[in-house]
This record gives sequence, structure tokens and C-alpha cells, in this order.
Amino acid sequence: MVGDIVREYVHGVARSDLVKALIRSHQRGDDSAFQRAAKELIDDERRKRHDLVAEQLEAILKEPGHRRRPPQVSSLRPLPKTRDDLPLISLEEPRLSFQDLVLPDPVVSVFESLVEEFRQRSAMRAHGVSPRSSVLLVGPPGSGKSASAEATAAQLGLPIARVRLATIVSSYLGETARHLEQIFSFLDVGSWVLIFDEFDMLGRERGDRADHGELRRVVAAMLQVVDDHRSDSLFIATSNHPTLLDSAVWRRFDEIVEFESPDQTARSEILSLKLRSVRCDFDLTGAAQKMEEFSAAEVEAVALDAIRVMVRRLDKCVTSDHIAHAINRGEARRQIIHHSQG
Ligand SMILES: Nc1ncnc2c1ncn2[C@@H]1O[C@H](COP(=O)(O)OP(=O)(O)OP(=O)(O)O)[C@@H](O)[C@H]1O
Ligand SMILES: [Mg+2]
Repeated sequence: MVGDIVREYVHGVARSDLVKALIRSHQRGDDSAFQRAAKELIDDERRKRHDLVAEQLEAILKEPGHRRRPPQVSSLRPLPKTRDDLPLISLEEPRLSFQDLVLPDPVVSVFESLVEEFRQRSAMRAHGVSPRSSVLLVGPPGSGKSASAEATAAQLGLPIARVRLATIVSSYLGETARHLEQIFSFLDVGSWVLIFDEFDMLGRERGDRADHGELRRVVAAMLQVVDDHRSDSLFIATSNHPTLLDSAVWRRFDEIVEFESPDQTARSEILSLKLRSVRCDFDLTGAAQKMEEFSAAEVEAVALDAIRVMVRRLDKCVTSDHIAHAINRGEARRQIIHHSQG
């Protein structure tokens, strides 16, 4: 039966991309991409009114054992640690891919070129040029900076080494600078995507803390590690307070990518992307219009909320009522955050 279904797909020209996505996700062991491709195939069947096939596929997808545990990332080398034995980074497998994100074309092409360059780093070096290996992502909260860093790791098939900010900023004098050096020397062996979220937190302290000597050391160490970073790892820092970063730090990065709040078209694309697994019956453009000033993450939250409302009410598709309810809740959340930030 499964064979028949697969044969049927292979003959469908429009579905060939979905089949490719299925096989690719299987090869990469990317369970979430596999689930997405499988769900799209099922939707496609439904659109064609092949309800029986859609149901059979859904049943296969629900069979136990289809979900693999996410592969555990481990390192042969001990992780860099504080003197109190706390790890300065955590190792993770990327879960998000660029297919989960709606980004402007210029941003997508910067990431594509970075990935391509990184893959061809040996050839680059043979020609006497270094591939770009340090990237700073700047932009407002919830615009997809951390998600894009993760998707870059997925695209490269590399594990993530994520900086644990709270651990790295040590109360011991001189330790923060040393922690940075430890992290970067860990990267010298192996290939990782080092993600350093809220990178500005290091620079921000410069004016705040009493001990200016220590802060100067941190900033100097930061400049040094970014400057010296020439390993087989990609370093991606993110910040939503770029003005707090020293201009000297900005200059050290090989590439700076600016993220923006989504415009109306992007908002409606995010909404339909995040609702792709359910049937919908509402005015997408109208909904996107109502979410003016919502960040990408907030639009995503509306989509997920609308699905929750649909399930709670035992409805079969997301309606304008569910969406309106979710937008109102999103708006209320925004107000609370706005008030609490003064
Ligand atoms: N452009 C986008 N397209 C689709 N989904 C998005 C986008 N941006 C963010 N999201 C969703 O919102 C979640 C949160 O976004 P993310 O953590 O990447 O924001 P950020 O820019 O790093 O924010 P912050 O500055 O607060 O750290 C993501 O995991 C993703 O699911
Ligand atoms: Mg982030």
C-alpha cells in the first residue's frame, strides 16, 4: 500500500519537490523538515480531493516509531568551564531551518553566500582569501536573528555551540575575558556554529560597572577573539541593542546582517506559513493589516494561538473568529509588555 502511494507521488510533477524534500530531510535526519514535507503532501492530496490517501498517509505518520530522538551532540574534548565547573557553552542540534522563516530576499542571499563560502573554505584559502567566518545579526526583538543563526547551522549540517551568557559574565575579576578566550580556543578543534545571543551584553557593561579596568579587559578580549577567529567554525553573534556595541567591535565582524520588523506582506506570509498544517477560512490580508507593528515572533504567536482556539472549540478549520481572538490576545500581550517597560 505504501509502495502504491509513493509511486503515485513520483508520477506527480508538481509533487516532485515535496518528494525531494522528504528524501533530503530523511538523509539529514531532520525530523521537523520531514514532518513538514509529509504534511504538505497530505494537504496536497486533500486539495485534490484524495481524502482516502490523505487519511492513509496521516495514519502512517502517526504510527509509533516514526519519530527519532533528536541526535545528542557530544564532544570528545571537555567543554570549556568556569572555575566553579559550570560549562560556558551548551552543544545542540539545530531544529529550525530557513523553511520555517520568512525573510527578505537580500537577507536570504547574504545567508546563502555565507553558507556557500563556508562550504568552500578550503578552496578559498587555497586562493589566499579567508571565508567570512564572523557574522553579527542586528535588529528588533523577535525578527528572526537567533532563528536564522540556528537555521544556518542546519543548512551547514553543523552542531551549535551556544554561549551561556549568564555563566560567561563572571563575578570574578578578570574571568569574563578569560572565558571568551576559552570558548574560542574550544572552536579550534572541530567545526561548529558558535551562537552568541545578546552579544551586546558584554559591551553594555562597559559604562555600568564600577571596575573600568575589568570592563576594558572584556572589550579588548572581545575584539581579540573576533579578530583572531579563523577556525573551521562559524561565529554568529546577535544583538537587538547594536548601539551599545563599540564601533570597534562592529568593524571586527566579516559580515553584518540587518533584520527588520515584517511589513504587511511578510506578516501574511508568516501567518500562512505557521498555519500550513491546518485548514483556514479567513481573510489573510485583513488579518495581516490588523497586526501592524507586530514582530515576526508575535505573528507566529497569533497563528499558534488561533490553532489552540480552533482545537478548544472543536472546530475543523481556523476561522476569522479564531484569528480575531488570537490577535486581540496578542495586542493585549503587547500592551502589558509596553507598560512594564515604561
Ligand atoms: N522572520 C521570521 N519568519 C518566521 N518566523 C519567525 C521570524 N522571526 C522570528 N520567527 C519566529 O519567532 C521565534 C523567535 O524569533 P527569534 O528568537 O529568532 O528572534 P530574535 O530576533 O532572536 O529576537 P531577540 O532579539 O528577542 O533575541 C522564532 O523561533 C521563530 O519561530
Ligand atoms: Mg534572539
